[in-house]
Amino acid sequence: MSEVFSRRYNHKIYCTFVTTIKKSSHRLLFLPNNFPMKKMNLTITATVFEDLSELTVEDNQLMQQAIAARLKAYAPYSKFSVGAALLLANNEVVLGNNQESAAYPSGMCAERVAVWKAGSDFPGVAIVKMAITASSTIKTVRKPIGPCGACRQTLSEYEINQQTPMEVLFMGEVGQIVKTNSLLDLLPFSFDNAYL
Ligand code: THU
Repeated sequence: MSEVFSRRYNHKIYCTFVTTIKKSSHRLLFLPNNFPMKKMNLTITATVFEDLSELTVEDNQLMQQAIAARLKAYAPYSKFSVGAALLLANNEVVLGNNQESAAYPSGMCAERVAVWKAGSDFPGVAIVKMAITASSTIKTVRKPIGPCGACRQTLSEYEINQQTPMEVLFMGEVGQIVKTNSLLDLLPFSFDNAYL
């Protein structure tokens, strides 16, 4: 595992390098035929639960709080409601839901509402886990809905700062729940302040 890529991938992602020789692309790039290319296989481990009854009591309770938050979402435009519940290291639970705006890009995702509430009310307190759920008035959301890319980036800042992994559980309205042991498992090759 190279230094650069192993830095953040110390939870559940393992990198494998395979040396290959891609002759045709080398000709196009005017590289020597025997120039070694490295392939990287990133593996993440996620646990899939068939329904809420399979979760631990603690995870189930947090997801129930995310569901309660989702029911209070303000999503008149997308009709897609998202709820997020954070369990903090001080045992506080912080909730968030998506807040939309008639000026569409001015709205905000549930996850960032929740994480900024936590950062604002409990600065420096680690986030132990996050539960996310989504539903729509247009159709039943049966697939697990993971946080969007922007939310993953925002959340990664908190996980890196707290130096402990943040578990992430996500589901739709019904059906399977996916759980990863770390937020960074969901964001390979992430950008962080170490690059600045
Ligand atoms: N949304 C979230 O709250 N979280 C996500 O991770 C994805 C999308 C919200 C934003 C918007 O209000 C609605 O879902 C539809 O995109």
